[in-house]
Amino acid sequence: MKILITGGAGFIGSAVVRHIIQNTNNEVLNVDKLTYAGNLESLKEVDQNERYQFSQTDICDRIALDELFKDFQPDAVMHLAAESHVDRSISGPADFIETNIIGTYQLLEASRYYWNTLAGEKKSAFRFHHISTDEVYGDLEGTEDLFLETTPYAPSSPYSASKASSDHLVCAWHRTYGLPIVLTNCSNNYGPYHFPEKLIPLVILNALAGKSLPVYGNGAQIRDWLYVEDHARALYKVMTEAKVGETYNIGGHNEQKNIDVVKSICELLEELAPNKPEGIAQYQDLITYVTDRPGHDLRYAIDATKIKQDLNWVPEETFKTGLRKTVQWYLDHQDWVRNVQSGEYQNWVIQQYANA
Ligand SMILES: NC(=O)c1ccc[n+]([C@@H]2O[C@H](COP(=O)([O-])OP(=O)(O)OC[C@H]3O[C@@H](n4cnc5c(N)ncnc54)[C@H](O)[C@@H]3O)[C@@H](O)[C@H]2O)c1
Repeated sequence: MKILITGGAGFIGSAVVRHIIQNTNNEVLNVDKLTYAGNLESLKEVDQNERYQFSQTDICDRIALDELFKDFQPDAVMHLAAESHVDRSISGPADFIETNIIGTYQLLEASRYYWNTLAGEKKSAFRFHHISTDEVYGDLEGTEDLFLETTPYAPSSPYSASKASSDHLVCAWHRTYGLPIVLTNCSNNYGPYHFPEKLIPLVILNALAGKSLPVYGNGAQIRDWLYVEDHARALYKVMTEAKVGETYNIGGHNEQKNIDVVKSICELLEELAPNKPEGIAQYQDLITYVTDRPGHDLRYAIDATKIKQDLNWVPEETFKTGLRKTVQWYLDHQDWVRNVQSGEYQNWVIQQYANA
């Protein structure tokens, strides 16, 4: 297969590209604008492979997309390109509307135009796989409730509203134009190559640097964590095996309070990086509670029964095994960290956590 992947230089996209190049014979065209979150360093393991190519392209650029479809002739599209950080969506929603909604619209139109030029088996086998988030469902009140594929959408942040909007566009392009789509909504991912603005890498790297570990509100927010390589395997399974028009929720059955995640990282660091920065008795002493994010969702949790039953997918990592691997990866890859921490990123962190 020839697979056009958008956002392949990002956290999850790069895991998908590495998974496909290393475990299948498929070809990949990675289409990525390379925003602050895109990093070609994350593809070093595969970028010399002859089945991999890269194009620095904005998904909002329809003319460029049409050229790429014409030249590459993909059998499938996996759409991961997005603005993905909730805090950034609150301080500046415009990019989220542009990429997540308009960009998805342009990609759908480029895909539809290309798909209409196909015939026979190539046309019926074509897939447009839209990768989305469980945040489109809003938050859960009861401790027993879980998100199902049928849970009504109730997004809370500009990020989740823009992703919900893109999901609706994708479903409409299927129903109205017959575009053969599949859709997945996943819980919070963690693992190697995660950009250091997100909770887990931020805490690991701040702790190692002896900086405060910012926790929003009282840290009681619950997230359902999935190791990124488990997500990449699930996405490939859905793209190749799911029936057209299906939606799958993907989750790790690993519900954790944010504060417990931070404490678990501190415990792992005590063991794996015992030489602490000067003046720090315990990593946990660095925990600092900061003003909560406006509209912060309290709990997300996925019911991943459907993907298990239909496609026989279950995660391989527990939170304990995955977190240990992740902490060790950051300890072993300080060069990658230094490379991604550009001046723009530093400025953003200073502004975001000014009261920490
Ligand atoms: N991170 C999570 O926990 C999580 C969970 C569920 C779903 N998702 C979804 O998975 C997808 C990937 O998430 P991620 O965490 O890897 O994001 P990320 O922010 O790490 O990467 C996004 C990538 O998209 C690229 N990009 C952004 N705007 C673009 C544009 N206009 N044109 C082309 N490329 C552009 C960036 O350069 C970057 O490489 C997103 O759609 C996100 O909504 C993420």
